[in-house]
Amino acid sequence: PLPPAFTVPLPVPAVLKPVGTSGGVDRYEITQRAVTAEVLPGVRTPLWTYGGTFPGPTIEARRGRPVTVEHRNELPVPTVVHLHGGRTPAESDGYPTDLVLPVGWRDVPAGHGGHGMPGMGGMRDPRARTTNLTREYTFPNDQRPALLWYHDHRMDFTAPAIWRGLAGLHIVRDDAEDALGLPSGPRELPIVIADRAFDEDGALAYPALDPDLRERPGVEEPYLAGVLGDVILVNGAPWPVHEVDAARYRLRVLNASNARHYDLEVVLDDGRRLDLVQIGADQGLLAAPVTHASLPIAPAERYDLVVDFADVPVGSLVRVINRLGAGRTRDVLAFRVARKAPDGSRVPEVLSADLPSWDRADAVRVREFSFRAGQVNGGHGWLIGGLPFDPARTDVTVGLGDVEVWRLVADVHHPVHLHLVGFRVLSRSGRPPLPHDAGLKDTVSLRPGEAAEIITRFDGYRGRYLFHCHNAEHEDMGMMANLEVV
Ligand code: C2O
Ligand code: CU
Repeated sequence: PLPPAFTVPLPVPAVLKPVGTSGGVDRYEITQRAVTAEVLPGVRTPLWTYGGTFPGPTIEARRGRPVTVEHRNELPVPTVVHLHGGRTPAESDGYPTDLVLPVGWRDVPAGHGGHGMPGMGGMRDPRARTTNLTREYTFPNDQRPALLWYHDHRMDFTAPAIWRGLAGLHIVRDDAEDALGLPSGPRELPIVIADRAFDEDGALAYPALDPDLRERPGVEEPYLAGVLGDVILVNGAPWPVHEVDAARYRLRVLNASNARHYDLEVVLDDGRRLDLVQIGADQGLLAAPVTHASLPIAPAERYDLVVDFADVPVGSLVRVINRLGAGRTRDVLAFRVARKAPDGSRVPEVLSADLPSWDRADAVRVREFSFRAGQVNGGHGWLIGGLPFDPARTDVTVGLGDVEVWRLVADVHHPVHLHLVGFRVLSRSGRPPLPHDAGLKDTVSLRPGEAAEIITRFDGYRGRYLFHCHNAEHEDMGMMANLEVV
């Protein structure tokens, strides 16, 4: 029983309270557990959650003020937590075999880990550092203010775990951003977009080969390109609606879908369109605002947007639609303009002055990686540079502090994500970057047949990191590689 569009109120994930503070570090605790929740009106849906909700609770962090998050795993399988977009020491970065074992597991049970199933292989991989029953992750937040997100990252089983609900927001802020006068408080909204499919009984439907997500990774044949759902959830609610003042709103948009791309447009009933004023990218504020009529967003990308409802007649419904969708997947969410109200917010011409200015001349190396379909263990998979992911192989070694240019070549759509760093898009198939490539990114959406160049400085920490496609099914089916910073 799917609800009519724009009838369910937009939920806003709760902000997590620290359990304590010592030495300038805020301590958080999150228990990962299975719950049932009313996602569709009138039915119960089993979910895997951070702290009981999907999305999980939001961590509000300040730049330069570290937090620790202790994760306890009450789910029936091991998990791994990764802070996407975080500049995080390697031991807290959520390497796919650095497992948090379920409470009650003493060891990886017999029958697991010996089948060549690396999701259970933390004990088998000689390079896996630790396998814990709880794990404390440290996030220094020593980075530009930005909308980050934490999600599961277990080897071979990331896609179905995120699908079941293991995702939440982590927002870094600082005084300079607070002083800009951007819309804030109730006029700043997280918008976490994720498509899902449901069975008749309200359970999430995911075509996993192993419904227990324990032994056999992978999805059924028709879903090798990625799993799409026909229900669009925003902050965990189907096609929600939110009442707004006739004023500016700051929308912090994350595409948390496994594989679905959106091209967002904001439309009024009379066909008029509202501008999307982009003020930030994956890794924080742009130098100056960029105005879009519509905005493509690939899995894992974030956009920081300002939409101004000031000229919208009170009572109107303003719809956010996906121009790439059809039928019900065309609708995303809506705003009901409820009242006139004063607006003291502004969008300054200069948003930030600390964007890195690397250019080609700074690069000590140019590398090229192909992102293509191929064979993995005799079946269909996805490869980087012709190889499927192998935790025991170092694919790339970079020097701490080095600036490099990477050329990324795609067969079909691949949103490519690098851990640890932010980067700038330099070019797309020899042409200048697109308007929505502005600013500092950590995920670049490669379009079919495209070769994009990115530039970054490998900064922050030494250790073993990753880069991969963020189509979560591609990632699970081999499209990931090791990045060692030395
Ligand atoms: Cu969103 Cu490797 O992560
Ligand atoms: Cu891909």
